[in-house]
Amino acid sequence: MVISEYESLVNRIKTCVQCDLSQTRNKAVPGEGSLKSKIMFVGEAPGAREDEQGLPFVGAAGNVLSEMLHLVGLNREQVYIANIVKCRPPNNRDPSADEIGQCWKYLDEQIDLIDPQLIVTLGRHSFSNFFPGELISQARGRPREWKDRIVFPVYHPAATLHNPKLKPVLQEDFLKIKALINDTQLESETTTGDDMSGRQLDFEFDSTQLPYKKDEYDNQM
Ligand code: URA
Repeated sequence: MVISEYESLVNRIKTCVQCDLSQTRNKAVPGEGSLKSKIMFVGEAPGAREDEQGLPFVGAAGNVLSEMLHLVGLNREQVYIANIVKCRPPNNRDPSADEIGQCWKYLDEQIDLIDPQLIVTLGRHSFSNFFPGELISQARGRPREWKDRIVFPVYHPAATLHNPKLKPVLQEDFLKIKALINDTQLESETTTGDDMSGRQLDFEFDSTQLPYKKDEYDNQM
């Protein structure tokens, strides 16, 4: 990772005017966390608090995300957190296909530069950009291969605020992330903040052996 390349990317995101969201945003939200992390979390788009602060997941959904990270022995500094779309859609509407299309290249560059082995998609909108046309309720909690990386879909943390029944489901999925990490000693590497680039993550871990509930939450975030 060349830091100047990352800084240049962040500057391009902060000054981007390629779609109309740039006209209504306060601050673009490039992303935050360890540039050495092997775990990247990808949400949908900034909300009001994120737009004010220029940081991802600092509102109510962010509190749930921090709680889930804590549950598995991680904190925000040990992972990298980004969004599909870097500017807040007015009134928190869903980003349009065009806005996602314009913004995707930035996430693509973040993935190339940070080089995570594990990408945790937060919510169905994020997931559907990696695997179009699939239901999050069927896909959640199972690691998938995506361009030589692993994508692990989970429900959006905000979904647990709207539907508290989803909280144990999200906890269950984060515990599966913990199992993946523990299996491969990523946790200790992450904790020390060392460069992990020489380490292998063994994703042969068979999550289909874990209890899985088909549930009725297809429309959840
Ligand atoms: N929801 C998201 O998807 N991303 C954020 O940064 C905040 C809330």
